[in-house]
Amino acid sequence: MKKKWWHESVVYQIYPRSFNDSNGDGIGDIQGIIQRLDYLKELGIDIIWLSPVYQSPNDDNGYDISDYYNIMDEFGTMADMEELLEEAKQRGIRIVMDLVVNHTSDEHMWFVESKKSKDNPYRNFYVWRDPVDGKEPSEQGSFFGGSAWEYDEKTGQYFLHIFSKKQPDLNWDNVNVRDEVYKMMNFWLDKGIGGFRMDVIDLVGKDIDQGVIANGSNLHKYLQEMHKKTLANYEVVTVGETPFVNTEIAKLYSGEDRNELDMVFTFEHVCLDEVPNKGKWNCRKLNLQELKQVLSKWQVELHNKGWNSLYWNNHDQPRIISRFGNDQEYRVLSGKMLAILLHMMQGTPYIYQGEEIGMTNIRFESIDDYKDIETLNMYKEKIENGYKHDDIMETIYIKGRDNARTPMQWDESVNAGFTDGNPWIKVNPNYKNINVLEALKDEDSLFYHYKKLIHLRKTNEIVIFGDYKLLLEDHPSIFAYTRTLGKEKLLVVCNFYEEETKFELPKDISYKNIEILISNYKDSTTDIQKINLKPFEAVVYKLTKE
Ligand code: NOJ
Repeated sequence: MKKKWWHESVVYQIYPRSFNDSNGDGIGDIQGIIQRLDYLKELGIDIIWLSPVYQSPNDDNGYDISDYYNIMDEFGTMADMEELLEEAKQRGIRIVMDLVVNHTSDEHMWFVESKKSKDNPYRNFYVWRDPVDGKEPSEQGSFFGGSAWEYDEKTGQYFLHIFSKKQPDLNWDNVNVRDEVYKMMNFWLDKGIGGFRMDVIDLVGKDIDQGVIANGSNLHKYLQEMHKKTLANYEVVTVGETPFVNTEIAKLYSGEDRNELDMVFTFEHVCLDEVPNKGKWNCRKLNLQELKQVLSKWQVELHNKGWNSLYWNNHDQPRIISRFGNDQEYRVLSGKMLAILLHMMQGTPYIYQGEEIGMTNIRFESIDDYKDIETLNMYKEKIENGYKHDDIMETIYIKGRDNARTPMQWDESVNAGFTDGNPWIKVNPNYKNINVLEALKDEDSLFYHYKKLIHLRKTNEIVIFGDYKLLLEDHPSIFAYTRTLGKEKLLVVCNFYEEETKFELPKDISYKNIEILISNYKDSTTDIQKINLKPFEAVVYKLTKE
């Protein structure tokens, strides 16, 4: 593969609402981000993925955009945004914007017009259908509960909304919609942004009349058109949020000669704690063997044929330490193990705000403290269907998106240093122990562990390009693999659980010199024929033949 600048980059995701509030209104903002750029520089990241900052009524916290050319009032102004781009640039950091174009807000001018009449010039910007037998045109459900069709009294038709009813789907088959999207993308690209993260991009090109929501037949055609009309003219990076992708389709998106996107963002590994086909709220325990199979499949199948994102967390996912690690006694050790496991793989790593200090899930007792539309809709629907409050809350504690959205924990002052005002969502009470200030003071903290992992990627080509091989496939508690490039080999050994366990080196691995690149214990051994792995112990060895 031709080497690209973003192959060795590490991305840090900011959810602006919860990152840092500079003006005391309880809501994070762009000036707040600028104040923390030096912190991110210290961590060593190259790219910030900024969740949406555009004008929005915030039905889905900015993923419902009412004006793509303006900044949300609560976050600041276009001048603040330009300042952020400039300040980031001075620190060698690029800003990747969220591109939400499967849908807009229902308050977007296009939709306001579209609703006015059947012959309005914007009518076909959205997906309108006649009732069938006096009811919804199809049984398509919304991802946020209920039907995906909403009836409009005035014009007697239904419009499609795969997400909330305040997020009507754009009609990508209308060339005017696509041209408007490309125009808007070029507006931002001309401002010097570093690229786009494309929200649910695999839904674009859907064929709703055939019941096809994702991976529609026009999807790749539209992406190639988009590339030609926008991205091809800039040195930027693009990542498609692709919940419905498999490795074959991922190669279409991200293959070098395809002129579509640079990488995909897959969901297979973060769905493994859900009962298959029962939706995200039906949880089950993670099976390590499945995790090994899934992550390894993506490593092997995309090698030289595509490019993947490496992530545990984002603003839609519960915190990884609470999820696949141990957020009590072994919080730091398990957090470091999970970080090693992921960051030594091939792909572009994403760190979600607070992950680098080991933030954990939240448990609010009252549903009133939750803010996420997905959670609130689900709660209401289940209560109406007779479920018990306590049972629903248990699933929210495990999978709710607000787990990731509590304010960033900066220090031990009131509200974790996030705001001088009243935070829009409550702070996790564990901020007195888990915060940035503490992490920066402690040389053994997760923060410095992440910093080192980022540095290792930049100084070892093998981390970027090495061949991947899973070891000890059937071992019940060890996740181990090698990466190989020329005469070098990385051996990554992770004990996934708190019980001690034994690692035996496979016979076909030989070496002359051995060096520990990173570990989560100070006394990890270099005698690797047999290793007694301590709770959550994770070590990366560099093996050389001469
Ligand atoms: C995916 C985003 O990550 C999520 O936060 C949002 O609710 C949906 N897309 C709809 O835009």
